[in-house]
Amino acid sequence: MTNVSDANQDRVLIFDTTLRDGEQSPGATMTLDQKISIAAHLDEMGVDIIEAGFPNASPGDFEAVVNISKIAKNAIICGLARSVSSDIDRAGAALAKAKRPRIHTFIATSPIHMRHKLNMSPEDVLEAIDFSVRRARNLTDNVQWSPEDGTRSDRDFLCRAVETALRAGATTINIPDTVGYTVPSESADIIRMLLERVPAIENAVISTHCHNDLGLAVANSLAAVIAGARQIECTINGLGERAGNAALEEVVMAMRVRNDAMPYTTGIDSRKIMQASRMVSEATQFPVQYNKAIVGKNAFAHEAGIHQDGMLKHADTYEIMCPEDIGLSETVLVMGKHSGRAALREKLAALGYVVGDNRLNVIFSRYKDLADKKREVYEDDIIALMQSTAAEESNAHLQLDSLSLSCGMHRRAEATVELTFKGKQHRVTAEGDGPLDAAFSAVKKVFPHKARLSQYQVTAVTEGIDAQANASIRLTENDRIVVGQASDTDTIVASLLAYVNALNNLVVRRRKHVTSVH
Ligand code: KIV
Ligand code: ZN
Repeated sequence: MTNVSDANQDRVLIFDTTLRDGEQSPGATMTLDQKISIAAHLDEMGVDIIEAGFPNASPGDFEAVVNISKIAKNAIICGLARSVSSDIDRAGAALAKAKRPRIHTFIATSPIHMRHKLNMSPEDVLEAIDFSVRRARNLTDNVQWSPEDGTRSDRDFLCRAVETALRAGATTINIPDTVGYTVPSESADIIRMLLERVPAIENAVISTHCHNDLGLAVANSLAAVIAGARQIECTINGLGERAGNAALEEVVMAMRVRNDAMPYTTGIDSRKIMQASRMVSEATQFPVQYNKAIVGKNAFAHEAGIHQDGMLKHADTYEIMCPEDIGLSETVLVMGKHSGRAALREKLAALGYVVGDNRLNVIFSRYKDLADKKREVYEDDIIALMQSTAAEESNAHLQLDSLSLSCGMHRRAEATVELTFKGKQHRVTAEGDGPLDAAFSAVKKVFPHKARLSQYQVTAVTEGIDAQANASIRLTENDRIVVGQASDTDTIVASLLAYVNALNNLVVRRRKHVTSVH
């Protein structure tokens, strides 16, 4: 049970739904391995509840919940289910190996959803709530119930619905602001009203789940906590449908930095936040906005002269938290060209990456190449190397061996690529409107496909003309979306490697027939 005991009145539970609501964001699909690594990190970070997926939505979601259930050490693992037997039973089956399972069942309670989406009367909905919570309670004693579109529901009906869920055995009542419509005062009012009007609600944990359509998800979540909620549902980097969910890093750091105004604690080790942010951004290839609170590249950067002057005199002048609090050390020159394996291993560990000998050897040789090409190697370069080599590990089908290009103004570009495809070597040449078009066309001659390039992005890893380029590619083939990522000091090479990585991921996805049906 996760109920907040009297001695623990001000402990706020952190419920992370990056792997469920976060993954529902179009294009944010993650592989099973990525989900397992992220879940392991969230568990280590002190997340209380990890919503690992929606088991009946797809075989991929089911598999994720099963595997995360097996590896979780402390966190409660939660699976989402609609109010139907098939969903609830499937969630129960997926959670069978979890030390601490939770089933989260939901049904819409707003007039607009009941009428137009469910085509059910309010009485039918109450019956479905009773049925679904009881069915879930037969499978586990930890059951969360949510009234979808709760903040736009009729208040009297919301109270009746919550009362029904509690009577049927729900242990957590979560109030979703599904469409990101509420405002802080209203978010607080709803929680206060439930506490005042619903009998026996004090035996359950009240939770808040806010979407960010008006940019108010974090404010609405904190207002709910101030009014009495003791669980916040959130995601790393605020990932989630449309404008996303409340960002975990923001709610956690707000309660920590402004503990005078919001005297609540969480179990989160905030020094693991930056690593979580990088893992999610890398897995989804959703870049983090530069000025994003807490984890954005500029969150601790001080450009303006007046700020820099103040910072040099005393960091408190312009900094309300230390970069170290979220696991960020200053971007410093890491190592020289002559540094050895041990120094690299130590640096990687400081950045949150624990690597075995084989992986270290690969990264070390790439590091040496990079140090030859680049005058200065920074921590961000090491992170890019790590991410790039991790992505390459999935290149089991198609590998890029070499690329040569001729291109320029007033002429068509020509690319010659050497590729290994299914163990066989190929050398092909193609023309195109520019070097990328030519290089991608050459690859397509070896690996014909109809996938559409739905996103292509290149960013510089660090400053300077010799900076590495980090390329990210998203391919869409029917309902399959895959991403590819790579970095290199040559932008075109990085882009082509990212394309090849995405094609390898497409092969895997085609085999698994994994489709998202959320
Ligand atoms: O936003 C929402 O309503 C949800 C529910 C399933 C909790 O994600
Ligand atoms: Zn949601």
